[in-house]
Amino acid sequence: MRIDILTIFPEMVNSPLRQSIIGKAVEKGLVKIPVHDIRKFAKDKHNTVDDVPFGGGAGMVMKIEPLTSALESVLDKSIQTKIILTSPQGKRFDQKAAKRLSLEKHLVIICGHYKGIDQRIEQLFPIEEVSIGDYVLTGGEFACLVIVDAIVRLVPGAIGDFTSAESDSFFEDILGYPQYTRPANFRGLGVPEILLSGKHKKIESWRREQALKKTLENRPDLLDMELLGQEDLKLIDRMKKDKT
Ligand code: 6GU
Repeated sequence: MRIDILTIFPEMVNSPLRQSIIGKAVEKGLVKIPVHDIRKFAKDKHNTVDDVPFGGGAGMVMKIEPLTSALESVLDKSIQTKIILTSPQGKRFDQKAAKRLSLEKHLVIICGHYKGIDQRIEQLFPIEEVSIGDYVLTGGEFACLVIVDAIVRLVPGAIGDFTSAESDSFFEDILGYPQYTRPANFRGLGVPEILLSGKHKKIESWRREQALKKTLENRPDLLDMELLGQEDLKLIDRMKKDKT
């Protein structure tokens, strides 16, 4: 997989992509993530990448010429490419989107800035606008990193233990269960007895119950009752009764 990142702040994205699991995936050659400075494609004396909006108003707009040149420099006619623009106006990025995008051969991510980019860019290229949540960032770089991280960890081989990716929170639209590791006693704080029992079936159902409980508490919007099994529904019923 190849992910080209177009940004006016290459330093902001370069370093994080060399660390940890993403850094290793790049080193292993599972994914290439070249970062391109849009400013280098600006042809005027001052390498201008933004300008005032037609019609007036506060803020600046990303100019279309440098962006078009930058895009054209990374597009390869022989490969299908998905172009993403980070923007608070975009469709919400979620785990489903991460899974879908992790199957692409070639992604290009444009880090949006200022009040937005000249709208005409979407008449020249098929572009998917993506937002990572309902808040406003100073620019698209952090959003881009979030998106790349969520996608690359799903690329086969990126995470040593794929079952770890499978058992993630959100893999099945419920949150993760609580975890404990050694020591079994810290300042008098023990860990749930069941986890030390070696009874795998019991541990599994305890974890399921804890995950459902957490989801009910923090993200009830995620629970799709139609998709849950009989056992889950019984557990949820019991938790609801315990509360009242
Ligand atoms: Cl993708 N960009 C910016 N600037 N702000 C955001 C965002 C993106 N997603 C949420 N807020």
